[in-house]
Amino acid sequence: MAPSSHDTWFKNAVVYALDVEAFNDSNGDGVGDFPGLMEKLDYLDRLGVSALWLLPFYPTPNRDNGYDVKDYYGVDPRLGTLGDFVEFMDEADAHGIRVIADLVVNHTSDEHPWFRKARSDPESPYRDYYVWIDEPPPEDPERGTVFPGEVEDERVWTYDEEAEAYYYHRFYPFQPDLNLANPDVRSEIYRIMKFWLELGVAGFRIDAATLMIQPKPPSVEKLDDPHEVLRSLKRHAVSRRTDAVLLAEADDAPGELESYFGDGAEMDLLMNFVLNAHMIAALATERAAPLVEGLERLPPADVGQWMNFLRNYDELNIGRLPPDVRAEVFDRFAPEPNMRIYGRGIRRRLAPMLEGDERRIKLAFSLLFSMPGTPMLLYGDEIGMGEDLSLPGRTSVRTPMQWTDEENAGFSTAPAEELVLPVVSGGPFGYGTVNVATQRAEAESLLNWMERLIATRRESREIGEGTFSVIGAENPCAFAHRYDYNGNSVVCVHNLADETCSLEFDLELVQGDALYPLLGTAEHTRHDDGTCRVTLDGYGYIWLRLHRTGAGSSVTPPG
Ligand code: NOJ
Repeated sequence: MAPSSHDTWFKNAVVYALDVEAFNDSNGDGVGDFPGLMEKLDYLDRLGVSALWLLPFYPTPNRDNGYDVKDYYGVDPRLGTLGDFVEFMDEADAHGIRVIADLVVNHTSDEHPWFRKARSDPESPYRDYYVWIDEPPPEDPERGTVFPGEVEDERVWTYDEEAEAYYYHRFYPFQPDLNLANPDVRSEIYRIMKFWLELGVAGFRIDAATLMIQPKPPSVEKLDDPHEVLRSLKRHAVSRRTDAVLLAEADDAPGELESYFGDGAEMDLLMNFVLNAHMIAALATERAAPLVEGLERLPPADVGQWMNFLRNYDELNIGRLPPDVRAEVFDRFAPEPNMRIYGRGIRRRLAPMLEGDERRIKLAFSLLFSMPGTPMLLYGDEIGMGEDLSLPGRTSVRTPMQWTDEENAGFSTAPAEELVLPVVSGGPFGYGTVNVATQRAEAESLLNWMERLIATRRESREIGEGTFSVIGAENPCAFAHRYDYNGNSVVCVHNLADETCSLEFDLELVQGDALYPLLGTAEHTRHDDGTCRVTLDGYGYIWLRLHRTGAGSSVTPPG
């Protein structure tokens, strides 16, 4: 039986990623919390997003922004109580906003009780929850630390005095890898999922999915069928909730990506790191070619779907771009060494990379939202927030949300030095200039435009579910593509460069067919032979809906 559109809601969703601690502080302690987030549901509702991806909110020593979990069944006390979470979920539901929780089960914190027991008692059943070895094998350069240059000791085996053995970790040494070959560990994960699904979450973002299924070093029990780990997560999720969605962080080689969809039995959504890097390259070089290449490198996503994004809260990873293109992107978007990280990434937000130029920012988001898949927005990008390069590592892009031009950007009433992270102040991206309240009042602001973009994407079902094709890229700076779905079509044209450009393509238009602009402006002229010519200003874009009402058509146009 074909899945109902209720179960494939994610195909037309717009996802908003946020970290509760940086969003809105309700009690003045300097840390964002669930009651604070709840107060902002009206804002998120008006913005039009359909789902929130919440970064980890569990109890944690917080040495990796919450990705070091010490209790999977609670809420970090800094963010509120489990009761606050339940109330928030209830309100989110009332607003029709779904919630996706981050599921971090490739590893735990070294403060998790499982690890404490594992290290202190070799006979404990928890010992085998982790990956131990007496003598570590030589380091494999292909499987080193994920954070090169940031950790003092870059080895993936760390000696534990108490256990008198080495444990394995691909991330920081305080994040021991779980042994997923152990069925008891997998049962623990199913229980954790069940718990949060019972509390109403609509699914999970599977942290480090690639590393979860990668073979562990030689002496350790191997997974016979690595993808079965992920398939079993899906089975357990849908057994509790038929519309549960699993979104994988799978920054894997393009050739490996299709396997994560598992012919419909595994991940529903994959974070599209390939297209992320290639879209950024197209924006940096102002040429369509990297975009075309990125799209060509992607395997088909017929059963599942891509989740597309321009920025997330980690580094912008351009490591998989061809070396010459990567060098060009670094030059344009991260010219200073302090803007780069791990030898492969950029630690800046989108708006400053585009020099705060609203034409370029709007072009970038129009392109993102028109790509095949589900678009994702990082909190604060809807107003064009900037980064703070004086903060270490990836925290540069994790500063608090800028609500107003009042003290602390309206994020918190705590003294500035008590904030979870300093707000960006001063300069073109400081909260005095970039904030929600000011942009609300300006009809043409980025924020108000973003609302329109989101609404337009949500009413353009063709993009989420239709057939995608590139229809014109003969001009090196422009890119045109179309979607066809149930006899209806949407055509999108983007000019990546500053100069006016013109593009012609064949839409097989017949008399009576109509083209309606959905978003953006451009001169478009149709010809008798069924072709269409679009002329765009510098960084211009246009989305057009094609109504096939002409001769021979029996289709009822949507909306
Ligand atoms: C991937 C997350 O995106 C990143 O922020 C985190 O540090 C690692 N997983 C470890 O959990």
